Amino acid sequence: MRWVFVLAIVGCRSTPPAPDLVAELANAYPETATPDGKLIEVEIVAAETTIELIDGKPLRVWAYNGTVPGPTLRVRLGDTLRVKLTNKLPQETTIHWHGVRVPNGMDGVPHMTQPPVAPGGTFTYEFTPKDAGTFWFHPHVRSSEQVERGLYGLLIVEDKAPPPYREVTWILDDWMLGPDGQIFDNFNTMHDLAHDGRWGNAITVNGRTDTRLTAAAGERIRLRLLNASNGRIYAVDLAGLDAKIIAVDGLYARTPSTLGRFELAPGNRLDLDVTIKGGGRSLIVTDRFVPQRPNRLAEIDIDGSVPERTIEPPHMKVPAWASGLAEPVTHEFRLDARQGGTYGIEWTIDGKAFAGHDHHHDPGLVLERGKWARLRFVNASARLHPIHLHGMFFKLLARDSVPVDEPFFRDTVLVHGNENIDIGVVPLDAGSWMMHCHILEHAEAGMMTMIDVR
Ligand code: C2O
Ligand code: CU
Repeated sequence: MRWVFVLAIVGCRSTPPAPDLVAELANAYPETATPDGKLIEVEIVAAETTIELIDGKPLRVWAYNGTVPGPTLRVRLGDTLRVKLTNKLPQETTIHWHGVRVPNGMDGVPHMTQPPVAPGGTFTYEFTPKDAGTFWFHPHVRSSEQVERGLYGLLIVEDKAPPPYREVTWILDDWMLGPDGQIFDNFNTMHDLAHDGRWGNAITVNGRTDTRLTAAAGERIRLRLLNASNGRIYAVDLAGLDAKIIAVDGLYARTPSTLGRFELAPGNRLDLDVTIKGGGRSLIVTDRFVPQRPNRLAEIDIDGSVPERTIEPPHMKVPAWASGLAEPVTHEFRLDARQGGTYGIEWTIDGKAFAGHDHHHDPGLVLERGKWARLRFVNASARLHPIHLHGMFFKLLARDSVPVDEPFFRDTVLVHGNENIDIGVVPLDAGSWMMHCHILEHAEAGMMTMIDVR
């Protein structure tokens, strides 16, 4: 009896791990940081304040250091960043460094990686970024309210020798203003939860609806875009300018690619290499995510001209991981909704809704450090879910089983209604990392889980 059983097990040959897939990642991005001894110290105070926003009208917001967007932190690769957060909000808060590969204890996930910072309290974050690129920071407590009220900022990690672009940063956000012109303070409504989160009625770029960029023909601009909205997705149309994608979610691409329709979901960043052409005209930059309802984002005035410079944009090794689709799926996450919970609707991952106030969560998945894994997201709902993984970069492998080779890594990928997607990942950092929908209302209503990397 016994030997028959053993034979049966040998006979079903479990698939061996895929060392070549791990090897393909070699020299893409470093496993560890290399601090060069320089410490940058910053103080951030989160507080309620009134600012002139959206074309000069006073707006009550929650802000980092009194501005929305908050301060842009700029460090250079090798620098160590130390940020002392002081919480003057009427609620607990934390800071999450979106896309930055930080030690687990610096990741800002309340109860899981740190105790939340109580009103009046402080917490000091310290880490040395491993990657140069465009990152951002925001609270991870009641994010659907705290981010919406204005708490977010950019973290730019410069290369050791930054390419000589003119740098422009555009942070896209939309606001839901009530009839009084103030932030509509009913958060997580049934409507927002049943749809794709809170889509506002005022779209701003860097906190204004009248953002203008004046540039000369021939200029090469590195345009860093961030979508800081709770739910809205943008497809930025640069009005015919030559724009190439050079980095996504921080990391450089394998090769620059033409900006076509790129769906910039909440949390996503996009670095574009824009060449200004033509003269004496104004271009309207438009969001065309919903083609029938374009939104004006900003204006570019082309004035004068400068000699065009040759800039070789940095690039990175990005594996194709083509053989990854032949590997078995390590885990399939099912994304769905059901009635119930605090808000009447719960968004679930594998049938579980994450409750932020619970201090203990079993991981939704355990992955082995340094091993290649193929994860599948099955969207059983008709809504959008930009899925974000903390602590690791991943690569899209397929949409609805059709292989895709994007020339870049991501930390957030948009899963459309009823779509299945496959990603490949090699987690390099041990820890308990959050995975969630970056439509903040969906996350708040349960669409979060933890991936433990051991
Ligand atoms: Cu941008 Cu879990 O976050
Ligand atoms: Cu979602």
